[in-house]
Amino acid sequence: MDFGLKNRLSKIIPPKSGKTVMLAVDHGYFQGPTTGLKDIKKSITPLIPHADCLFVTRGIVRNCVDPRTDISICLRVSGGPSILGELSNEDVIVSMEEALRLNAAGVGMSIFVGAGNEDRTISNLGRLVNEAQQYGMPVLAITAVGKDMARDARYIGLACRIAAEIGAHMVKTYYCEDFHKVVEGCPVPIVIAGGKKLPEMEALQMTENAIKEGATGVDMGRNIFQSDNPVGMIKAVRAIVHKGATAEEAFEIYSSSKKQPVEAK
Ligand code: 5RP
Repeated sequence: MDFGLKNRLSKIIPPKSGKTVMLAVDHGYFQGPTTGLKDIKKSITPLIPHADCLFVTRGIVRNCVDPRTDISICLRVSGGPSILGELSNEDVIVSMEEALRLNAAGVGMSIFVGAGNEDRTISNLGRLVNEAQQYGMPVLAITAVGKDMARDARYIGLACRIAAEIGAHMVKTYYCEDFHKVVEGCPVPIVIAGGKKLPEMEALQMTENAIKEGATGVDMGRNIFQSDNPVGMIKAVRAIVHKGATAEEAFEIYSSSKKQPVEAK
């Protein structure tokens, strides 16, 4: 692996813990003004100091993120359909030059294993990796779940392994029972998405389980920005990911920070 690729990866996964808290705020690329991100600049500004990497679209980077920030950027580069259309009908819509211009530490796109357009999204991943390799740009593959697919270790494991085989440097997927089997079958780091909003304790327990079973971290959105205490929640998630806190200890961080002012990480 060359210097540029390793250097960029270390901005996404800080070497000190070898783990990462990515804050996913790309939802608007197909959902529009998502709950919790309606005024996205206002929502994400207090969260950014507590995350290692921001997973975001170029439009939001340009308009809503302070360019003097320390946070690394992983840029969503796939898109096309809205929530009203066929979600799997995505293509790569952002150039590598644009990712470099925005000083991205990585680029991310979805693959739709078990859904319509499965083959096109997987071959798009291959083409993105080909291009990214030339510039030392890490690629995060996101395993979007086909409507009819069970979110079990067999299916999630299949999607993650395919992403790694095609050349993704990291994979984002959903937590499932026997998640360690997914990790065992995937030779690149896996981060979990949070999925739909859960009660805070459940989201923290899922995070603890994922880390214990070998996840490299989270790329979490709704369970942070839709919480009644988003800053407390990201601090709690961070304690699990980087410090090995239990879900109970993390829940205490979430609860006790409800009325405290924002601090830097
Ligand atoms: C949407 C995404 C999101 O970034 C991903 O789902 C993480 O967000 P959440 O924790 O809300 O699930 O890739 O396609």
